[in-house]
Amino acid sequence: QTGTPMNKKVITEDMITNKTENGYNLNFDVNKNYTIKTATVNGKTITYRAYENIVYVAKPVDIAYQTINIYIPEEYFKNKSVGKYNAKSAPIFFPNTVGGYMPGAAGVPGNGRDGKPDASLVALSNGYVVASPGARGRTLEKDGKYTGKAPAVIIDLKAAVRYLRYNDDKMPGRADRIISNGTSAGGAVSALLGATGNSKDYEPYLKEIGALKARDDIYAVSAYCPITNLENPNTAYKWMFNNVKTYKKIEISMLDYNVERKYTEGTLTDDEILRSNDLKKMFPDYVNSLKLKDKNGKLLTLDENGNGSFKEQIKQYYIDSANTALKKGTDLSEFEFLTIKNGKVVDLDYDKYIAYMGRQKTPGAFDNVDLSTGENNEFGDETTNNKHFTQYMLEHSTVNGTMADKKIIKMMNPMNYIGSSKVKYWRIRHGAIDKDTSLAIPAILAIKLENLGKKVDFASPWATPHSGDYDLTKLFGWIDKVVA
Ligand code: DHB
Repeated sequence: QTGTPMNKKVITEDMITNKTENGYNLNFDVNKNYTIKTATVNGKTITYRAYENIVYVAKPVDIAYQTINIYIPEEYFKNKSVGKYNAKSAPIFFPNTVGGYMPGAAGVPGNGRDGKPDASLVALSNGYVVASPGARGRTLEKDGKYTGKAPAVIIDLKAAVRYLRYNDDKMPGRADRIISNGTSAGGAVSALLGATGNSKDYEPYLKEIGALKARDDIYAVSAYCPITNLENPNTAYKWMFNNVKTYKKIEISMLDYNVERKYTEGTLTDDEILRSNDLKKMFPDYVNSLKLKDKNGKLLTLDENGNGSFKEQIKQYYIDSANTALKKGTDLSEFEFLTIKNGKVVDLDYDKYIAYMGRQKTPGAFDNVDLSTGENNEFGDETTNNKHFTQYMLEHSTVNGTMADKKIIKMMNPMNYIGSSKVKYWRIRHGAIDKDTSLAIPAILAIKLENLGKKVDFASPWATPHSGDYDLTKLFGWIDKVVA
């Protein structure tokens, strides 16, 4: 599980642009160390300044990842505007490149794998400033120590936000309009960043790496398929897929959504079925403890068999998803689990739908008895590569595993912080055939946020697998609306 993700550029000391004789210069200078770049977006040529490979803390642990790249439309240096925005009003789009809880280097705008302009290029063409932070991840090592375990990823993102806040008056764009974006593990840390703004819990870690003294709260969160709330998806997964005994599993090193996936087929062992049954029973207790309410104020609960209004709500998301697809003209006639009447999807056979989607992970999907998951690896520490983070798996550990620090487990879960988060705007997407985590997990986050009075745009797009940034026109339409 070690090594550098193959899709990420390796940054070396000689590439760093803010290194001085006495450390790193954390004062941004808009007139220095940039190159001019151009790109074509929707047939239009855009020109922007690229300030790259800026170390954002005074005492970095790994300069390959603790850097930020900042991109600013060239018009803003000529007193011109782009789209709705000018140098004073431009929001800052803040996309991380984290996947699989692996290290993610600062992103560079370009065309995606589909050959189309990626989110950062589209953001620039819409007049946003783009600031793409790098962050450490679970596989990093230095001098015989692990250097990127939890909570390193969120500490680094916060430090990068502080860099932007601290340097706000030195560059175009509004640091009080930072919109975070990420997919999968990156979606999870995007949500975590929104949940934990200015929280004292992270302060000692920020101090240790020489983060600037500034606010680290952001304005809005965009999260695609967030692999979040890591203590609970084990049970949520079993709740959703308990009846599906076969699986198509991804290799663990292929966790990262950016990387091409290889699947192995198999059938659950008796032991795994037993564990799946155990875990399935634990999920209702968790859901019921949250006292979630639907849009009409009705409690969302589950009985001991896993049935109830919460399950109906999850089913409704899939029905809504199918209806949205139908309205767009998608042919849904092949899906016999749907009941379509008068041009409307009126019902979905839940069990059949789950069987059609299929199981991808084996129990425990996130914390496993043999410490084999990417999440076990994320919760390691400086000297122990993999740890448990749930009581059940600790008790059933087949490898004498130890438990991660309770405080760190808490710090990685946005559910523990959203109650005090000031972030009002959240956009959460989780594809309707995404089985990297149960839809219940992002749904719980979205519903809890709604119950707290936040403005939440949550949906499960039809036939969409584990992926992100697939609806950029809508994403930026949403951002334009919430920053206004
Ligand atoms: C990612 C995918 C997973 O299945 C997971 O458990 C964690 C992270 C990812 O694509 O980032």
